[in-house]
Amino acid sequence: MASTILVTGGAGFIGSHLVDGLLERGEAVRVLDILDPQVHPSGSLPSYIQGHVDTGRVELHVGDVRDRPTWRKALDGVRVVVHLAAAVGVGQSMYEVARYVEINTQGTAILLDILANEAHRVEKLIVASSMSIYGEGSSTCPECGPFVPEIREEKQLQKGDYEVHCPSCGSLANPAPTPETKPPVPTSVYAVSKRDQEELCLTIGRAYDIPTVALRYFNVYGPRQALTNPYAGVAAIFSSRLLNNNSPLIFEDGDQTRDFIHISDIVQANLLAMDCSEAAGQALNIGTGRPTSVAQLAGHIAQALGSDIAPTVVGKYRSGDIRHCVADISRAREVLGFEPRVPLANGVSDLVDWVRQQEAEDRVDIAARELEQKGLTR
Ligand SMILES: NC(=O)c1ccc[n+]([C@@H]2O[C@H](COP(=O)([O-])OP(=O)(O)OC[C@H]3O[C@@H](n4cnc5c(N)ncnc54)[C@H](O)[C@@H]3O)[C@@H](O)[C@H]2O)c1
Ligand SMILES: [Zn+2]
Repeated sequence: MASTILVTGGAGFIGSHLVDGLLERGEAVRVLDILDPQVHPSGSLPSYIQGHVDTGRVELHVGDVRDRPTWRKALDGVRVVVHLAAAVGVGQSMYEVARYVEINTQGTAILLDILANEAHRVEKLIVASSMSIYGEGSSTCPECGPFVPEIREEKQLQKGDYEVHCPSCGSLANPAPTPETKPPVPTSVYAVSKRDQEELCLTIGRAYDIPTVALRYFNVYGPRQALTNPYAGVAAIFSSRLLNNNSPLIFEDGDQTRDFIHISDIVQANLLAMDCSEAAGQALNIGTGRPTSVAQLAGHIAQALGSDIAPTVVGKYRSGDIRHCVADISRAREVLGFEPRVPLANGVSDLVDWVRQQEAEDRVDIAARELEQKGLTR
């Protein structure tokens, strides 16, 4: 078992696809996952992972990253750690503050404490970071040039003015691809904890000569994304709404843009990072480099589902939301040889094929009410 790869959060959306990718390469895989009921409502292992456990190809450790003995057992004989386990929900993190910090920040700290102080065989650590750490993406003023935008002010949003403006001349700014060098401005507890995870891992990796890479995923979508988790990705949420004959709810005006990347490209990036020694010590954007508006995304999904339900623009905004963020992927291209392969239209039809087979219980209304009660939507 000297060459085991540990995938934390391996029962989750990204983790389970990575496990498949690793098994295809013939790796020995161990999964550490608590099977969080918010992600796994049945409380049991998803069938696609259960199959691998039954055939003995995956060793499953059900446990909590907040627990040191759990980590010790999970790390035994492990050569590579891909740390994906996390509490994942931007809105929810704003009122479950301690839980997010404990699982994400403190959970990672325990892993690193063991790597720093105890015998181990870990030769590579890959940690899942996130585009959310950037806050508002890079921006350029047509008059004054590039600038680092602040989070949009409340009084601007109250007027229904959602776009980013130049801080010097007030002109409407244009979104620009966001490079890794953009200073992070996390705007949620979730984002703060992702930045913590990234910085903690890179710091300890550097100090103890454990090659460590932080992959800053942009907006990942694809099969197996929890449809029942109202805090998950917007593509899953929109699909779930449409399947239940509900209109997808769009905050602001729908022209906000994101960088939607198909899960198979995330797996590809992880496998490349595993093999690449030059990536050590770096944080790398993993996106497509292509902007898509939230309204466009809703249109793509409706089309793929053959639904004529139009999205509802609710005319509200969410505290801490950003307007635009798209990856500059030059560094991942150069260092990893990463090239995203799946165009959005193909990726969305893959998502939708899967969504059709699911019984999506639509809990988005409940989540929206929760945010409203806490005063986080206005
Ligand atoms: N999905 C995205 O768009 C996206 C974007 C950027 C970064 N990420 C990061 O990628 C990683 C994986 O995200 P995902 O979309 O697969 O989420 P997911 O919720 O599908 O998977 C997370 C897994 O972690 C497990 N988990 C939660 N708390 C745990 C704990 N205390 N101990 C052990 N396991 C625990 C859950 O049971 C779940 O199986 C996360 O670190 C997330 O922050 C995801
Ligand atoms: Zn200007």
